[in-house]
Amino acid sequence: MLFYGYNSSSGWDTTAERYAARLEQVTGKAGGLLIDMSNKLLPFSPSSNFLDVGAGSGVLTYCLSERYPNMPILATDLSRVTLNLLDKKNLANVNTKVVDVNNISGSGLEPGSFSHVLSAMMI
Ligand SMILES: C[S@@+](CC[C@H](N)C(=O)[O-])C[C@H]1O[C@@H](n2cnc3c(N)ncnc32)[C@H](O)[C@@H]1O
Repeated sequence: MLFYGYNSSSGWDTTAERYAARLEQVTGKAGGLLIDMSNKLLPFSPSSNFLDVGAGSGVLTYCLSERYPNMPILATDLSRVTLNLLDKKNLANVNTKVVDVNNISGSGLEPGSFSHVLSAMMI
């Protein structure tokens, strides 16, 4: 990311709670629209599974999980601190994993293993 250096989680680690408190309402609305758009482009089905890239505290993941509580979601981010905020929500269909999207080799993310890949406010 331009603000903090894209290979470092440290900036996001320190601003995670403030970001979540101040911006979640804004990105939450956009997240809902993004989900609707994705569902139109490639309709969700009971076998859909989602990858949220740069999930942060999980605004988009939370919207998805609320609407589709039975579909598995993997929320990834460079910053474990931001993902911990999401983990605190204890969403049954959500797992979190630290992944640098610029270097996914060795991350365990296999090509073709997700039906939908979403991301909000990451680039
Ligand atoms: C503006 S926040 C957006 C968070 C969330 N998607 C939202 O809409 O509220 C950007 C997020 O991207 C993550 N990020 C930045 N560079 C990344 C990278 N190379 N790989 C994975 N995540 C990254 C940051 O840690 C941060 O949580």
